[in-house]
Amino acid sequence: MSIDVEQYLVEQENKQLLRFITCGSVDDGKSTLIGRLLYESQLIFDDQLAELKSTSKKVGTQGDDIDFALLVDGLAAEMEQGITIDVAYRFFSTDKRKFIVADTPGHEQYTRNMATGASTADVAILLVDARAGLLPQTCRHSYIVNMLGVKNICLAINKMDLVDYSQEVFERIKAEFLEFSADLNFDEIVSIPVSALKGDNIINSSTNTQWYEGDSLIQYLENVKFNTEKEFQAFTFPVQWVNRLSHEFRGFCGLVAEGSISEGDEIVVKPSNKRSNIKKILVADNYSSSCSMGQSVTIELADEIDVSRGNIICHKDSSCDAVDQFQGKLLWMDEEKMVPGRPYIFRFGVAESSGSVSKLRHRININTFVDEASSDLELNEIGIVNIALDKKIVMEPYVDSKSLGSFIVIDKMTNNTVGMGLVNFALRRGDNVYWHNMEINRDSRSESKNQKPVVLWFTGLSGSGKSTIANIVEKKLYNLGKHTMLLDGDNVRHGLNKDLGFTDVDRVENIRRIANVSKLMLDAGLITIVSFIAPFKAERDLAKDLMGADILEVFIDVPIEVAESRDPKGLYKKARSGDLKNFTGIDSPYEKPENPDIHIESDKTSAEDAAELIVNKLIQKEAI
Ligand code: ADX
Repeated sequence: MSIDVEQYLVEQENKQLLRFITCGSVDDGKSTLIGRLLYESQLIFDDQLAELKSTSKKVGTQGDDIDFALLVDGLAAEMEQGITIDVAYRFFSTDKRKFIVADTPGHEQYTRNMATGASTADVAILLVDARAGLLPQTCRHSYIVNMLGVKNICLAINKMDLVDYSQEVFERIKAEFLEFSADLNFDEIVSIPVSALKGDNIINSSTNTQWYEGDSLIQYLENVKFNTEKEFQAFTFPVQWVNRLSHEFRGFCGLVAEGSISEGDEIVVKPSNKRSNIKKILVADNYSSSCSMGQSVTIELADEIDVSRGNIICHKDSSCDAVDQFQGKLLWMDEEKMVPGRPYIFRFGVAESSGSVSKLRHRININTFVDEASSDLELNEIGIVNIALDKKIVMEPYVDSKSLGSFIVIDKMTNNTVGMGLVNFALRRGDNVYWHNMEINRDSRSESKNQKPVVLWFTGLSGSGKSTIANIVEKKLYNLGKHTMLLDGDNVRHGLNKDLGFTDVDRVENIRRIANVSKLMLDAGLITIVSFIAPFKAERDLAKDLMGADILEVFIDVPIEVAESRDPKGLYKKARSGDLKNFTGIDSPYEKPENPDIHIESDKTSAEDAAELIVNKLIQKEAI
């Protein structure tokens, strides 16, 4: 009998694994469908388990544990990939195959769980409510699973019981979907009329749909031919950490993201392009002659070459490369919209860099696939973007490598995942541009002016008194013989930033430019006074990142009522009457600085005293 147990385990192990995702909302019957699949297959499985259990007991082997140790192997791999998004991977199995279904609970209006699940799926089941037909959400999900490379689609037209199992309804929705998806390059689309609730065409063919001659859902899942090509993909191994156990041992640990490799094979390390051969492979605590996708391993190389965390050990012919500008597709997944120029963290597996969308080329209308002009991306919108990173990261187009060609976007302040994207291609524009180290630099220019350059970054509401105080500060410095420059919002908007208005997107660009101009002013050795509303923390942080220690944030703080009563330019009045839109403090936000270097309450301190205080701070800082 014990042989039977082992044979059963071997059979399980050798069954082909199909990963799929169900797309649709709770209303479409997604939970019922997954529940039913698990329940029905579990029944089969439970029978076998019961038998296994009693057999095991009789022969005194491993008891209850056997099944799970075997079955959760796929899940363990998911965990190790450090998936940050809420996706539960459920396992079930039938006689023919084992399955992992990415169950993406949570708010159905969010695509992000779905997109995460789809990135590893072989098949997507798109659920449609037969009464409602195709919804914008169905189209969006189709577009996303397509962009993530899922080639097999099962259109499960659900709730057939509620449309009297009407063939006409089924055929109409099916035709509509085929027309809609003609431009998406799916390999195969199979439509099945089902009722998840009643069980029609889930396991067996239903007698309620005599007109339907195709497979039931389970038959489809058991038989669908899917792309197993990924098993032959080029070896890709991002190094998670370097294990220096002893003087002689240096192992590179991580998870094989793609492909496989064997002892003795030649590899190349990116981005250094150093070459070596695989000396030893450790899987768990045992040496192994090879390793493949999904395994956590430690690799020893034949040569002593530099390899560090974030480097990629690749197949010898790999064409991936370290890149800091690229074009890609971006799916935005946050309530707060994506604004070009705003700094975010872009994470590619182990490696990450700060950066921003340097250009939103266009947004994609997911119903028509037409490119639309847009200045930002809202929740669930997809855009084609150029991205500029602050440092180079090894990547590859998504079509060539799923692991090196996909990334997530993280909000710097909340640490939330706010987007996910795919690399289309590298932009080489930065490659042939070199930084020249000039002989006369910031230090020499400052020295000749006998001062330490610094940026005084004033921020505050319109009418807070920024310009007035900035003007006095500059006069004082001038009288002390200091070399200064004053960049004022209203004035710069007459020239360099003439093209910008007051939408969030334009304000972000306004501040991005001014932060960079300020940096040039620093290099010129000038004490630079910047006076802009600068309403968003993210862009003020960008300025701080650029300037390092050489910036002081000066918050000119005033209650909005006071600023409004001053109303030097009559703009609050216009804003209140509706003649002026997007006015800061009225219908456009102002995010107060949390820890300004200098905090002036301009309703309590006179402009003269405020200026004095600021100049004293510069003396303290030994800038003057
Ligand atoms: S910022 O928000 O992008 O930093 P900036 O400092 O350049 O603004 O410009 C603010 C100045 O533009 C204000 O002092 C005001 O005179 C003028 N202005 C015109 N329209 C607006 C508006 N909708 N909101 C704020 N300021 C405005």
